[in-house]
Amino acid sequence: MRISDRKKLAFVEWEQDCGLAHVLAQEPQSWVTPPPTIQPTKRASPLPLEAATSLEELRLSSEAFEGSPLKKTATHLVFGEGNPRAPLMFIGEAPGAEEDRLGRPFVGASGQLLDKMLAAIQLDRTQVYITNILPWRPPGNRTPTTDEMALFLPFVRKHIALVAPRILCLVGGTAVKALLARQEGIIRLRGNWLPYEGGIEVLPTYHPAFLLRSPGRKKEAWQDFLALHKKLQSFSKCP
Ligand code: URA
Repeated sequence: MRISDRKKLAFVEWEQDCGLAHVLAQEPQSWVTPPPTIQPTKRASPLPLEAATSLEELRLSSEAFEGSPLKKTATHLVFGEGNPRAPLMFIGEAPGAEEDRLGRPFVGASGQLLDKMLAAIQLDRTQVYITNILPWRPPGNRTPTTDEMALFLPFVRKHIALVAPRILCLVGGTAVKALLARQEGIIRLRGNWLPYEGGIEVLPTYHPAFLLRSPGRKKEAWQDFLALHKKLQSFSKCP
């Protein structure tokens, strides 16, 4: 099957799940900058976090960081991937078993749903950037503790600064709790545009794992993805 057919199929499945009509016009994604060709770094030893000035340096300093026992129980660092020039960056919770095995974010069941949701707004992983609050899998997929979130927050903040997206989509309650000092939970906050530093706009939405357990919430997630699509399209209309 051709990629365009697969994308169409993913869209139709997601649309049917949501029980909604297709409302997106096939517009060119003029805001997407093609991903750069990344030159392998020559640096052998990792820099401290504060000194990292590129994603590769940040990856090396994340990998070398010994401040968390999660590193000992996990198999692979799950750093982030996608288009490092993307205007839209997704931040999830933490790697699960499949992500830990492959060292890539959102490649298990949640990731497959995320891919469908992206396809529904005519996006794929080459057009967005995806990472997590924790780069190491918590044993048994438990929810990250507040201390773990605080420990890795400087890495996440650096990650955001290096990608410099225009929109941050926080996927699930953990990402919201870690990055926004808000008392409300994800059910209250989802679908609301919130400010972040440097003029970045934040949209919290449900975690795909939650949607898999509670498919009745997919309609709200679809509204959130439509809002993302609309915001991205508005960038290409800027003079
Ligand atoms: N859930 C997450 O939050 N992140 C992943 O990478 C996979 C599942």
